[in-house]
Amino acid sequence: MPDTVQFPMRFGSSSGQPVTRRDGIAKVTGTATFAADNAPANLLHAVYVSAAIARGTVTSMDVEAAKAHPGVVEVYTPDNVPPLPGDASSKPFMFAFRFEPLQDNSVRYANQPIALVLAETLEAATEGARLLAPKYAAETPRIGLDGNAPFEIEGGGFGLPGTTVHGDVEAGHAAAEASVDLTYETPEQYHNAMEMHAVVAEWDGDHVVLDVPSQALVMSCAAYGYYLGIPAENVTIRCPYLGGGFGSKAALNGPTVLAIHAARLIGRPVKLMLKRDQMFGPVFHRGATRQRVRIGVDGDARMTVLDHESLAVTSSFDDFIESAANASQGIYSAGALRSAHKGVRADVGTPGPMRAPGEASGSAALESAMDEMAEKAGIDPLEFRLRNYAETEPGSGKPYSSKALRECYAQGAERFGWSRRPLAPRQMTDENGMLVGWGMGTALFAAPMFAAKARAVIRPDGTGLVETAAADMGQGAWTVLAQIAADSLGLPLDMVEFRSGASTLPDAGVAGGSGHTATAGGALHAAGQDVVARLAEMATADPDSPLHGAGNATIVARDGRFWVEGDDSRSDGFADILARNGGAEIEGTGGANRPQEAGAAHAMYAHGAVFAEVKVDPDLFQTRVTRLVGAFAAGRIINPKLAESQLMGGMIWGLSFALHEEAKYDMRTGRVVNGDLAGYHVPVNADVKGLEVITVHEDDPYVNPLGIKGVGEIGITGTVGAIANAIWHATGTRIRRFPVRIEDLLAGSR
Ligand code: MOS
Repeated sequence: MPDTVQFPMRFGSSSGQPVTRRDGIAKVTGTATFAADNAPANLLHAVYVSAAIARGTVTSMDVEAAKAHPGVVEVYTPDNVPPLPGDASSKPFMFAFRFEPLQDNSVRYANQPIALVLAETLEAATEGARLLAPKYAAETPRIGLDGNAPFEIEGGGFGLPGTTVHGDVEAGHAAAEASVDLTYETPEQYHNAMEMHAVVAEWDGDHVVLDVPSQALVMSCAAYGYYLGIPAENVTIRCPYLGGGFGSKAALNGPTVLAIHAARLIGRPVKLMLKRDQMFGPVFHRGATRQRVRIGVDGDARMTVLDHESLAVTSSFDDFIESAANASQGIYSAGALRSAHKGVRADVGTPGPMRAPGEASGSAALESAMDEMAEKAGIDPLEFRLRNYAETEPGSGKPYSSKALRECYAQGAERFGWSRRPLAPRQMTDENGMLVGWGMGTALFAAPMFAAKARAVIRPDGTGLVETAAADMGQGAWTVLAQIAADSLGLPLDMVEFRSGASTLPDAGVAGGSGHTATAGGALHAAGQDVVARLAEMATADPDSPLHGAGNATIVARDGRFWVEGDDSRSDGFADILARNGGAEIEGTGGANRPQEAGAAHAMYAHGAVFAEVKVDPDLFQTRVTRLVGAFAAGRIINPKLAESQLMGGMIWGLSFALHEEAKYDMRTGRVVNGDLAGYHVPVNADVKGLEVITVHEDDPYVNPLGIKGVGEIGITGTVGAIANAIWHATGTRIRRFPVRIEDLLAGSR
């Protein structure tokens, strides 16, 4: 970009508008295509056999019977699968997870792929897989938090949280005049995106085209290339739409790589789509945790120590430890802080990132413990949090890039009516005799930014084209990113073509970590500014332009024209400028990455406060969440409608965490007994009432040039604890295991 020109972005024409999802009509009319909708000629269908045990070996399979079934083309077992070129048990990338491409007959978790059948039809592949009828030598599986001895973690890297200590923790404990020492448990949860994991793989020599849902298109090409032994540029991923991801589709998984491998071996395109029950095992989940939270306060209810330890389940063959205790960093101004993690190995699939990894489980425990500490100190839970409000990041002492949490507390409390809350539990009932309780929690999530690139073009007709390999898994990236691009180009939204969802486009980074809008948006903004600056140079240098000789700094781009600010008589249209200067389109590029010095100077988080009302049947202890109010400050909101939708979705996930979701294991076999959407409970519409989202205005000059923080994950944090605290307030019973179940409330009430 010519360094003489600076164009401040004009927000407000597209950005800030509650634009409806641009992919909405395609989605609801069924014209949006997902990976498994693709059916190239000569396609083979793949179905894999899932292990029915969690630990042991496969002793036999009836390959002859499967192969004899009409339509079955090939059966892959450890006896006939050549190894992948890249080592599937290595971890060459940050998002690499170990998997098992049928290399031996061992079983390490239930639902592990143990054979793959290729057939001319899905029906034949399904029947062939059934006919394999595997036999096993089973060993007793180690399941849950107590199935094995805990181990220490060598901290460092993704999924390997270490121990963080600030201040003198022992002195903090010793100085406490009152304290709590509490242990909470959170269960295994499975992402269960509506679209099951799927792939259509078509090879051409040593190039492969993949229709595969991916939250990180360009990064995934490098990973697939590694395992398949081909350069990253030989892998093309097409992923115009995803039916949800939630972290599960950020990394590669074993079944998908196996299907791609099989397509190469057989020399025909192959399609694999997991069945719903196969989503419970090889495609990651949120690992179970047991968290001990110790809080000490002085006589003024100011925290002398916040000491958070977490034990989390990982698999027997890979390391992904839920970073739950890190939720206690960055939030309250305790005199001393400690976050510590341990792992325990179990015979389960490897856990992975799942929406608000770390903070979802961690804040459930932390916000519950904060409520218990406030109760013990005899003060209102909101007042307790305000008294321990962190003006700078605790531990580091860094200033926050912005922090409107006080306003979140105030606006949320006002909207909810928090000031009318009786301090003691079991004080309120409704007209039907239901016990009514009110609880609250603080929401916090980091505001990261990753690296991304984008390309922007102004075409001869004056319209714009922008490209970046972003992923819209339902969060609205297609819409929000196009809004940013339109403003950066000085064009109305409907004059900008937005191309995304293919790895052939510039790398947009990962749609994850609540950083996609800031990251991909930042790159689009930079690319748009670049092309606009080039075009402005062209205009001011053009003797036939009304802007000839105008000082660049006084020019603004708006509605497809350049204007001299404050002088409506001088303007020039994008198309006119190009027409007078050769008629070709003009291109710009841009990238985004957080400058290191900004990362070092400020602590960057989105904040929020969640208030919950529950009604609990005094006899049956059935619990309903009747109101949820969340107030969030997340920097500049590009699209209020979609941001509120994201925050609302997060809060509903929090409700799900608090009351519904839990994978139940059969301790004898290690299988998930509720491994389908009938038995694995998530909230339905009837469970979600009175949900309100407030977005609190926040200007952040440091977080990134656009002032954007993420909204994808923070809604879960705070909500889980708020609901559990409301249940205590209704019933007087504390439940420290999630989800809060009727039987626990019944037992606790006796
Ligand atoms: Mo995620 S768990 O940041 O997709």
